[in-house]
This record gives sequence, structure tokens and C-alpha cells, in this order.
Amino acid sequence: MFHAADGYDRLIGRFLPSLAPAFADFAGVRTGSALDVGCGPGGLTIELARRIGAANVAAIDPSPPFVAACRERVPGAEVVEGVAETLPFPDGVFDAALSSLAVGFMSDAQQGVREMARVTRAEGAVALCFWDHARMQGLAHFWKAVHRVLGVTPVDDQLMGRREGELASLLDGAGLVDIHASEITATARYEDVDDLWSGYTARIGPIGQYVQTLTAEQLDAVRAAVREDLDEPDRPFTLTAVAWAARGAVPA
Ligand SMILES: C[S@@+](CC[C@H](N)C(=O)[O-])C[C@H]1O[C@@H](n2cnc3c(N)ncnc32)[C@H](O)[C@@H]1O
Repeated sequence: MFHAADGYDRLIGRFLPSLAPAFADFAGVRTGSALDVGCGPGGLTIELARRIGAANVAAIDPSPPFVAACRERVPGAEVVEGVAETLPFPDGVFDAALSSLAVGFMSDAQQGVREMARVTRAEGAVALCFWDHARMQGLAHFWKAVHRVLGVTPVDDQLMGRREGELASLLDGAGLVDIHASEITATARYEDVDDLWSGYTARIGPIGQYVQTLTAEQLDAVRAAVREDLDEPDRPFTLTAVAWAARGAVPA
């Protein structure tokens, strides 16, 4: 049976054990309470709970299977179904609000970040990260192959947050101060090209939707091109992925 959280782990989640600690460090989460906005199956939520205790962590996502997976993976955290644009929390209740790889999927990212600022206390931190898709090798290998074989450019090119400066501008637009931008490099390990390919066919995100529009012949050709791109496709390898990151503070 199709399991969304497992599919997510195959494509993206495998980068979270290295992305999440670096992002939580960047956001300065060491004590207090934190909200994870667009938590997915919980890659960042797990890290926040490890740092400050699950009872001090809340998480929100609109996807019911991801909410269920996050609840299972982080027992004791308050995991709710909902969207960033209308957060179901009172003003100023969290010491920090973080959003990992989610702003590009919000229907109104500026409103989502405004809401993150609203629920964070004065001088608390609001932090965002999102892939620089050109340097996210786990995704770039696929789109490079698609471009070579089918002449198609990535369908996820327009997502908010994937270009330098966009995250800082969202924080600025939400009235945050003391804004810092940086980038975080994450890594993931693959057994072989089949392991990498299993993420592309996992029916997750823009790649998952695009794959379903291809014929079996097109898919075979793209797969062959992905394979050609790897130095040693039948051995374990590591891919890197770079995320833009930005943080700001709620005015005193
Ligand atoms: C790439 S996943 C990131 C998941 C997780 N934060 C992580 O780092 O692995 C993007 C997530 O954004 C969620 N999402 C989509 N629209 C959203 C919205 N309007 N508000 C909050 N989250 C949203 C999706 O359901 C999905 O779980």
C-alpha cells in the first residue's frame, strides 16, 4: 500500500537528519518552546523535541498522512492539521517558530510568515529554510536527466524560496528585525541508483506529479540518463543539497 511518509523519506526525508540539526542551530533553538510549520512527517519536529522536549514542541501541516506520521514519530508533541496562513495558536506563545522546506508550498507564503511572527513572543526567533533547487542534488539529478532526454525544464522552478534573498524578504515583509541569511549544506546516502530512483517514483511533490505524466518509455529513458550521470551507479554514494536559510527576531 502507498505510504506518503515512506515516499517522502525516500525523496526528501533522508536529508533531514543532517539538515534539521543545522537549521535548529541556525535558529538558535536550545531551550523554551518551538513551533514547526509545515512539519511534514516530522524530520525537524524530531530534532526540536530532542533539544527542548516533546512537550514544548507544536507542529502543524495540512496533510493528514503527514500529521499522522509526525504524531507517531514525536509522541508528546502537539501535532495539528492546518495551514500556516491561519495558525490556530494565540499571539506570542512560542519562543521560536521554524519552517523547513515548506514556504514554497504555501498558497500565501507572506501571510504564513506573518502568522509565524504573530504566534512568536517579542524577541523570539522566526526561521525559514528552503532548497536552492539547482544545488539540491537529490532533485537536480532528476530534472537534469528530464531536460536532456525530453527538453523539459523543471516544473518546480517557480516555487517561492528557492532563489537567494527570497526568505529574508519574506521575514522583512512580516515585520521581523535583525534578519540574517545563510545557507545550509545537507547530505544523504544512497545504496545505488535504484535507491535514488525510488524517491522519484514515490509520488511525492512536483517530481512525483510529473512522473505520473510520463509514458513507460519516457520513464525508462529518464532513468537511463540519471544512471549515466552518476560515476558509480551500482555502489553506495552520497549526494549533497544546499538550502537557503534566514532568521529574524520579533521586535521587542
Ligand atoms: C517539502 S515538505 C517539508 C516537510 C518538513 N518540514 C521537512 O523539512 O521535511 C513541505 C510541507 O509543506 C506542507 N504545506 C503545504 N502547504 C502548506 C501550508 N499552506 N501551510 C503549512 N504547510 C504547508 C506540505 O503538506 C508538506 O508537508
